[in-house]
Amino acid sequence: MIAPSILSADFARLGDEAEAVSRADWLHVDVMDNHFVPNLTLGLPVVKSLLKATDLPLDCHLMIDDPDRWAPGYAEAGAANVTFHVEAAADAVQTARAIRAAGAMAGLSLKPGTPLEPYLEVLREFDTLLVMTVEPGFGGQSFMAEVLPKVRLARREVRAGHLRLFIEVDGGIDQDTISAAAEAGADVFVAGSAVYGADDPGKAVEALRVTAREAMTRS
Ligand code: DX5
Ligand code: ZN
Repeated sequence: MIAPSILSADFARLGDEAEAVSRADWLHVDVMDNHFVPNLTLGLPVVKSLLKATDLPLDCHLMIDDPDRWAPGYAEAGAANVTFHVEAAADAVQTARAIRAAGAMAGLSLKPGTPLEPYLEVLREFDTLLVMTVEPGFGGQSFMAEVLPKVRLARREVRAGHLRLFIEVDGGIDQDTISAAAEAGADVFVAGSAVYGADDPGKAVEALRVTAREAMTRS
């Protein structure tokens, strides 16, 4: 699945920007609070407006402190998937349960330096694992191939039947890097600048999908 990130879109025209990628699978919405990350974007009011403006499932990526308090509200509003950071959560399992009880999928995200092994049990309570392939906070950074062992480990756990998860990568995904992520076992690809920096964002989504599919059939 391809999930364009509106972080690289024109925030004054979000409805049109969502329409431009209407054949994507999810629309990725980066919520930043200027505390967990040194950047500030948008929050629940904008997500509520976006839900009215698009039929695309919203993939909310919360880069915020105290997700235990705030994440369930995004699920209640109607987001399809609500991902929060394990580094910020006080009780990841309880928060995942609250998100699911509100009708959304629950996602857990790891910064590049956060290992996966300690969370393999906890991930049984989740639908999505978001492996950050850049330091969270900004679009347009370079892909960090050194985090791909986490994607491979997660894919092995899914193949072995220990976990049932989407494995999502976020940061620096473009035509040059998506193959390595797909071969490692990712199945959801977030792309901000590679989609909204293109002349035709819709075509960019299709091109990324083709490249990822080719890599998956090779691996
Ligand atoms: C970064 C965000 C990403 C960002 C990716 O913290 O989580 O979703 O939009 O942007 P690109 O694809 O430009 O790296
Ligand atoms: Zn993101």
